[in-house]
Amino acid sequence: MSAGKKILIGITGSIAAYKTPLLVRQLVKAGAEVKVIMTPAAEDFVSRLTLATVSKNDVLVNLFDEATWANHVHLGRWADLFLLAPLSCNTLSKMAHGSCDNLLLATYLSATCPVVVAPAMDEDMWHHPTTKRNLAAVESDGCSIIPVKHGELASGLIGDGRMAEPEEIVSWLDAFFARQNSLSGKKALVTAGPTYEAIDPVRFIGNHSSGKMGIAIAEELVKRGASVTLVTGPISLQAKGLRRISVTSAAEMYAACTGVDYDIAVMAAAVADYTPVEVADKKIKKNSGELTLTLKRTQDILGSLGKQKRDGQLLVGFALETDNEREGALKKLREKNADLIVLNSLQDEGAGFGHDTNKATLYFRNGEEKNLPLKSKTALAKDIVDTITELVK
Ligand code: CTP
Repeated sequence: MSAGKKILIGITGSIAAYKTPLLVRQLVKAGAEVKVIMTPAAEDFVSRLTLATVSKNDVLVNLFDEATWANHVHLGRWADLFLLAPLSCNTLSKMAHGSCDNLLLATYLSATCPVVVAPAMDEDMWHHPTTKRNLAAVESDGCSIIPVKHGELASGLIGDGRMAEPEEIVSWLDAFFARQNSLSGKKALVTAGPTYEAIDPVRFIGNHSSGKMGIAIAEELVKRGASVTLVTGPISLQAKGLRRISVTSAAEMYAACTGVDYDIAVMAAAVADYTPVEVADKKIKKNSGELTLTLKRTQDILGSLGKQKRDGQLLVGFALETDNEREGALKKLREKNADLIVLNSLQDEGAGFGHDTNKATLYFRNGEEKNLPLKSKTALAKDIVDTITELVK
């Protein structure tokens, strides 16, 4: 799977760097073209000469070598994938905060290809809250993480933090490249964020949806090769590599979605169920009495796509319930003719609106259920899109 791929490997200052020449050798043997860059600290652990020999390419460390400038932009654009292995605690922290004091970091900041990291550190560093925060930050910036292993560490302790073995990294990359094109040729429609229903020119009825989950799913679909239309309510989060339609109200979201041809539709938006019957054309002034707003139902986008669903189309809905969660999710699956319902629970710490993490239960038409534990919304999006890919097959 790595055959023919251009892989840029970044090595940082960690004892696990002694394994990287073997990794480079295995990738080259598998038919990949490999270039290596290093931080100055990595040179204490592994030699440039060894890496140049096994990669069959010059190894760069510095942004400037005498009168020559290393073109980090070119390196980041040359690669099909940038793998940081091993990733030290120090470089992780710099990546999370946007530091750019060496060639490897400059390349990371200018890379347009997927970035994968294989961390390596001692157990206590690995479990430190700062490391967790930094790892979550780089993951939400789009990096994929090869999990660390449990075993003997440089300190002599046994614990978590070992870099994955070279052959495990090679298998991980094979699976990554296989997934990359698994949805190519498929058209996807995704909704995300809240809707705002105007009451008057300055007020609206809205909700707390941040749009993070829907955007993570849309970006994951893009990574698998799907051509994605993302319809968002009023949110400022950016999304890469797709066609975006920005709307405000439920009626606008409905209009934007109808007419979009799709193979996969994921309705992750928190669409208002009700909207004011009348919108005042001037700001409503207060008085001493009560104010009554009359609301009418909005059109149900998921329900309407469900009614018109053709063979070969896959429809995914979301549910967020405060009680009778399972019954509520199964009812939506049936009544809206969805193929999959993703249930978020408001009762779980760290899950739901605004958080960077989420947990979910998936409900399938054949009665199957799958629990996805609390993880970052980016990681959860990968699991959901894995499931979608299986269903599309
Ligand atoms: N949805 C939609 N269009 C609407 C309302 C909801 O597409 N006008 C979609 C959401 O994007 C989500 C699912 O339907 O995928 C949520 O269903 P919904 O009926 O809104 O859930 P609740 O309002 O929470 O359910 P109920 O009040 O019926 O319990």
